[in-house]
Amino acid sequence: MSNYHIKHLEEYFQVYRKSVRNPEGFWEEIAEEHFSWRKKWDRVLSWDFKKPEVSWFEGAKLNITENCLDRHLSVRGDKTALLFEPNDPKEEARHITYRELHGRVCKMANVLKAQGVGKGDRVCIYLPMIPELAVSLLACARIGAIHSVVFAGFSSTALATRINDCDCKMVITSDGSYRGAKTLDLKSIVDAALESCPGITEVLLVRRTGNQVNLIEGRDHWLEPLLEEASEICEPVIMDAEDPLFILYTSGSTGRPKGMVHTCGGYMVYTAYTFKNIFQYKEEDVYWCTADIGWITGHSYIVYGPLANGATTVMFEGVPSYPDFGRFWEVIEKHRINQFYTAPTAIRALAKENLEFVETYDLSSLKVLGSVGEPINEEAWHWYNNNVGKKQSPIVDTWWQTETGGIMISPIPFVTPTTPTYATLPFIGIQPALMDEEGREMDGNQVSGRLCIKFPWPSMARTIWGDHQRYRDTYFSAFENKYFTGDGAMRDAVGYYRITGRVDDVIIVSGHNLGTAPIEDSINEHPAVAESAIVGFPHDIKGNALYGFVILKETGEGRNRDNLQKEINQQITEQIGPIAKLDKIQFVSGLPKTRSGKIMRRILRKIASKDTSNLGDISTLLNPEVVEEIIANAL
Ligand code: PRX
Repeated sequence: MSNYHIKHLEEYFQVYRKSVRNPEGFWEEIAEEHFSWRKKWDRVLSWDFKKPEVSWFEGAKLNITENCLDRHLSVRGDKTALLFEPNDPKEEARHITYRELHGRVCKMANVLKAQGVGKGDRVCIYLPMIPELAVSLLACARIGAIHSVVFAGFSSTALATRINDCDCKMVITSDGSYRGAKTLDLKSIVDAALESCPGITEVLLVRRTGNQVNLIEGRDHWLEPLLEEASEICEPVIMDAEDPLFILYTSGSTGRPKGMVHTCGGYMVYTAYTFKNIFQYKEEDVYWCTADIGWITGHSYIVYGPLANGATTVMFEGVPSYPDFGRFWEVIEKHRINQFYTAPTAIRALAKENLEFVETYDLSSLKVLGSVGEPINEEAWHWYNNNVGKKQSPIVDTWWQTETGGIMISPIPFVTPTTPTYATLPFIGIQPALMDEEGREMDGNQVSGRLCIKFPWPSMARTIWGDHQRYRDTYFSAFENKYFTGDGAMRDAVGYYRITGRVDDVIIVSGHNLGTAPIEDSINEHPAVAESAIVGFPHDIKGNALYGFVILKETGEGRNRDNLQKEINQQITEQIGPIAKLDKIQFVSGLPKTRSGKIMRRILRKIASKDTSNLGDISTLLNPEVVEEIIANAL
């Protein structure tokens, strides 16, 4: 078990040095000792960040579900794999053992096969947080189909774009979903999306809410009867380590979402290894990550990482505020949760409520607390530490991205001393670099710059589906021979990293990654709008909220502004989803632009943040006069 489970700081430094001096040797040892392979690799790593091309464990053969399911059957077949906690606390939680999960995944895989899905086909999964969601991912992986999960809060337009981008042939969805007191009608969103998705021939429907649905003959099938007939035996399709496992979309600087492609071998090794260490998972522990499987956090740290370690992983269908603000804490007490992984936005929202919601519950089972998705501010960190962890449970502030597949910078609990707001040290095998404006790497400590990674790690995304050039342009062109994260960071006197936020056109709202371009495109489609720009501004709970500056066409000038604001937000909700709604909309006569026509977002950001004391030199703008007008009417 050498190096698999790090237990003290000296060991961390020692293993880190080893992983950096000889990455191939290091990862080969981890891969060999802790996973089942049908055939070993011919080569551990080949890479070229110029092309860019990266492959890990080339020539190796495996199926990730054998590692997540089959190999556990003889040792922990009766252990709970998935613990499902429903939206309604009165509905009983469900414990699904490894043996049951294996059977359900095989059945589902057989259904997929019977519907014509095979290796390499893309399957879109648009489901709420119910066990069938995890089962669907694993069933695809079982037969080598590539899953593309779309968060079930996305609108029909956003869903259609993602289905078409990677030519999915099937959608797995449900009649509806429960979100607190609300019931959402997922099937009608899918129906609307599919009007523009000619490639979809099959829709599988899970029954969850009992909503009335409209079945299209020949296309739509209830899953249940198909599962009943399916066999519980399904031999896994043996995959190359570098075959795609899944596609997951993230926002970018243009309107088109980027389908990040993750592959089987490296992703499995890295997510499993990080899970084991960063949550210090022990065999009897019950682990809970509150993310949705629609995001990378759910893929890596609800499904693949935990299951590869034989862990008990909780899937929570509900929301932190239902039936009241004590729900998270009630669930922790009820299931004796040992590791709890959530987002700063949830912590901030719950910290605003009465402390009694927390104090009512026995949280003494907790050993490790995690945070992910955005910088955690000092106040939220202390609230989490004092009231949830009772100063006994280290907080792992984990920095990573959809693109990185797994956690990149994070403390290891009980190993790395934590400091509020710091993600602290690079994880084993990760080689960060901070770059200055001129593209030089900054050595030493007490420096700030753009955060890059200068050596490949096993779970990095290999490409953008269908657009390798965009992958190269986005991540490998800003700095030579380095992966550029899009984030800024500082390294303090002891070498700890603190992530300072995005340095590109992505805004993190409530932990969700939103590109400005798709939102602006959506606003601009409103018939009364001529042009728009959106920026982020600090928000107590969401971290950032969106502020839109909108120029109206002449036809829009005479219209009621309140109604226009509502319509614009309605349009965003329909095209992207409610998470991208604007908190503030200011109608302006112009936007500050450079002489080459680029919008000066830096100025708009300052205005939105009410920080107009130092706007810098605006005299070079094409239209400096507009700045004064915008400041005068700022919201
Ligand atoms: O800006 C960073 C922020 O979230 C971005 C990645 O978003 P996404 O691909 O949606 O993945 C989120 C879950 C891994 C990053 O570029 N971010 C994520 N974690 C942190 C963070 N910022 C600061 N601290 C973190 N712990």
